[in-house]
Amino acid sequence: MNMKIAVFSTCSYDQEFLEKFNTGHKVVFYEQSLSLLSVVLTKDFDAVCLFVNDRADYEVLEKLKDNGVKLILLRCAGFNNIDLEAAEELGIKILRVPAYSPEAVAEHTMAMMLTLNRKTNKAYNRIRDGNFSLESLMGFNLNGCKVALIGTGNIGKALYKILKGFGCKVVAFDPYPDENLISEGLVYANLKDTLCDAEIISLHCPLSDQSFHMINEQTLKFFKKGAMLINTSRGGLINTSDIIKALKSGQLGYLGLDVYEQESALFFHDLSNEVIQDDQITRLMSFPNVLITSHQGFFTREAMQQIAEITFANADAFATGAAMPNEIKP
Ligand code: NAI
Repeated sequence: MNMKIAVFSTCSYDQEFLEKFNTGHKVVFYEQSLSLLSVVLTKDFDAVCLFVNDRADYEVLEKLKDNGVKLILLRCAGFNNIDLEAAEELGIKILRVPAYSPEAVAEHTMAMMLTLNRKTNKAYNRIRDGNFSLESLMGFNLNGCKVALIGTGNIGKALYKILKGFGCKVVAFDPYPDENLISEGLVYANLKDTLCDAEIISLHCPLSDQSFHMINEQTLKFFKKGAMLINTSRGGLINTSDIIKALKSGQLGYLGLDVYEQESALFFHDLSNEVIQDDQITRLMSFPNVLITSHQGFFTREAMQQIAEITFANADAFATGAAMPNEIKP
């Protein structure tokens, strides 16, 4: 059975891959994100296909149900933007893409670490300007440096492999330590001990009530002065005001963000001709030791293909009544 699917937050690359791997469903693409304003576009659709900044709270889910939508196909792993209890109460199923090339995000994380450390972004601009000076470009060796991983699921694991190749000493915090990684030599500790003494801290856990603002004024005190923090997971893991204070005081030496708590109004859009209203991101953009990318960790050809293939496999499983291993429940 083929379904009618409304795809929200569509960019050209989403359309390209979803059209290429469509298994026969009728798909309509909308550039808008899903919200209370745009939910009207879902009338008589069987399913909606959503990404990280689409919101499906109780009110939106009620309207989806009224419009006949029975299924949410998430083309991402995280699901903090969906009210799972409400969806269950309203009988709307949620299927996600649990892992799509974790290596893509791990490699982007590594790129951020290398850029912040060796300042290749600055060197590139300098050389184009005829400035061949090395002043203020000094970095540090990653070989032998202590890196803390917060979360060792698919992405944390992929990054662990890369860091081992660089000769880093890796420690980790995860409420569910991975026995295979322990046997490979990874050392787990509690959050405080993991953060202490690390030159680099990288976040790879989901956003939940427990992890919300886990990096805040208190936990920043555990950081080694001048440490580097990388967040390629979810913006809400970090208290932005506290991080700005820590950058100003020098407690935090480098910050790499691929995600930002208020990213939905900014990321994936070209705002180069507009006045940015978010004062926190403009403050962050002004620091010389902050690198921001626009939620592009996942963005490789391989990951886009897997997202499209798994999304349609999920749609087919729902449509045919087959097992749905990628279903998420409260
Ligand atoms: P995963 O589900 O495989 O692993 C998450 C790990 O975090 C698990 O081992 C879990 O036990 C651990 N965890 C849960 N709560 C924790 C806490 N409070 N403190 C420390 N660890 C905790 O997820 P995966 O695939 O590794 O993804 C991690 C996160 O990366 C996702 O939740 C998502 O938010 C983000 N992500 C970002 C992308 C990007 O483009 N920047 C793309 C894909 C995912």
